[in-house]
Amino acid sequence: SMPKVTYVSHSGVATTVDVPVGESVMRGAVHNGVEGIVGECGGALSCATCHCYVDAAWTAKVGGPENEFEAALLDGVASETRPSSRLSCQIVMTEALDGLVVQLPEVQF
Ligand code: FES
Repeated sequence: SMPKVTYVSHSGVATTVDVPVGESVMRGAVHNGVEGIVGECGGALSCATCHCYVDAAWTAKVGGPENEFEAALLDGVASETRPSSRLSCQIVMTEALDGLVVQLPEVQF
């Protein structure tokens, strides 16, 4: 079955959707109308409006920023940057990430 991702809004509302293997966590949100992830640049690593906080139970599996570009963009996100911060367009779904939980920041702009 398709892996699932749960997006938890800033106000605490959880939405769980199917996200195909190979698809980004950003697209999983946008395609399913999950508010709180914008993805303005379409995953081109230039907008930082796909910021999320990886749930503590998943940070080891998901890992940190993919590269220096993601790390640099995370320095400039609209909400607070935390050690668990990632740009969700850079998290690509695998079977191992089935059940992933991410929290969404208060604002993306
Ligand atoms: Fe633009 Fe992730 S969607 S940086």
